[in-house]
Amino acid sequence: MSYDLIVIGGGPAGYLACERAGHAGLKVLLIEKQFIGGVCLNEGCIPSKTLLYSAKIYDYARFSDKYGVTAENVTFDHKKVITRKNKVVKTLVNGVKGKLKSYQVEIIEGKGEITGKTDQGYQVQVGDNMYTGSRLLIATGSTPIVPPIPGAKAGFDQGYVLTNREILDLDQIPESLVIIGGGVIGLEMASYFNSAGSTVTIVEMLDHIAGYVDPDIAKILQKNYEKKGIRFQLNAKVTEIKEDGVVYEYEGGQSFIQGDKVLMSIGRRPVTDGIGLEKIGVELERGAIKVDNTGKTNIPEVYAAGDVNGRSMLAHTAYRETEVCINTILGKRDTMRYHTVSSVIYTNPEVAMIGETEVSAKEKGIDFESATISMRYSGRYVAENEGGDGICKILVDKKYRHLIGVHMIGNYASEIIYGAAILMETEMRIEDIKEIVFPHPTVSEVLREGIFEF
Ligand code: NAI
Repeated sequence: MSYDLIVIGGGPAGYLACERAGHAGLKVLLIEKQFIGGVCLNEGCIPSKTLLYSAKIYDYARFSDKYGVTAENVTFDHKKVITRKNKVVKTLVNGVKGKLKSYQVEIIEGKGEITGKTDQGYQVQVGDNMYTGSRLLIATGSTPIVPPIPGAKAGFDQGYVLTNREILDLDQIPESLVIIGGGVIGLEMASYFNSAGSTVTIVEMLDHIAGYVDPDIAKILQKNYEKKGIRFQLNAKVTEIKEDGVVYEYEGGQSFIQGDKVLMSIGRRPVTDGIGLEKIGVELERGAIKVDNTGKTNIPEVYAAGDVNGRSMLAHTAYRETEVCINTILGKRDTMRYHTVSSVIYTNPEVAMIGETEVSAKEKGIDFESATISMRYSGRYVAENEGGDGICKILVDKKYRHLIGVHMIGNYASEIIYGAAILMETEMRIEDIKEIVFPHPTVSEVLREGIFEF
């Protein structure tokens, strides 16, 4: 069978490519080996947010007396939470399948492997069948990094070492949980399991959590977590995993933390093996498929979008990358603009950011000024966040007077940050932003208030 486009991988990059291409009238084949929706819908973004929402409701109920509400006998039923999570996932996966069907996208369940190119196009084999595509889009995603730490393999085999996949389906809340890696997954899962009753310790190799997040915001987040009882061991490198905990190096010595379960969340790597990329000579760079800003690889009519290109590893980046690929295929001019991709950590409080941090702006030699204001400038924030200590940090290019970065910690930040993305995409000048009316009272007003610092 011949197609205008064969897409390998049915996660956000893959399924949206099919929807957009199908909508444009292309004959599309989607090959997916495991589940439509990929990691994001099945074992990443959506299930974790469903769990976190249950934890948030539980926390609101338990700690509501400061808002004048007293609730007794509040309980948390983890099994029910997981059942609901599975229902949410099913609803969304079915939604995606329905949309693909409406665009006449053909779906094949199985592992696709590129075998070569003929005059008709690229050949992709699934089982005993061969499919031909005039174009290919590789969207095979990423997989958790599992370092060769002694004891890790045995731990995975015996079920006490987990990745983001297995931890979302635990049938019981462990009494204690050690999380290796204080990045996005580690922090989000720490939030859930702490609320659900585990004793949680995060072991992080660096001297700070949350990777490239603004250092002031990372400190506030850590302080909030510590108040809830989450423990941190920074500057600690894990050297061995045992059945009852984790051994790590700290200040030249060896220490041990007890844990019934261990979550391995030290990053993800692109999936580039076993799909036949070498058969057509697709170039890799540091383990990822090398692409330009339109998603083109070094091979004509072969594109790559999403985590597999290693550029941003976020579902919403994948969506946009894939749209750029399809537009390029359709002959429309389009390009990725990575500097306006925002990111969110769905902790409680939430963290959201876009653009340069003070550190990265200095490294790039950008002449900028920054202002930090308390989220307590927002009336709604004060009303809804008893004791909240969130901040909003804004960076402005001194010469062009437009935003180059916004960093927030405090709830609703996740829903506000796209506003900053629009201001950055349109390169609005500070003076013009000041004329925009924000609804009152909203937490978003913090952004407007911050702009008046310049
Ligand atoms: P990450 O890259 O965010 O964090 C990994 C952390 O592990 C880093 O802080 C690193 O210093 C630390 N680390 C590495 N080796 C270590 C060792 N041996 N011992 C102790 N610490 C060690 O990776 P994470 O959390 O696994 O997330 C993976 C990907 O998933 C990310 O690319 C992220 O963008 C994506 N993701 C995004 C979410 C969101 O946007 N809200 C949610 C969940 C995942």
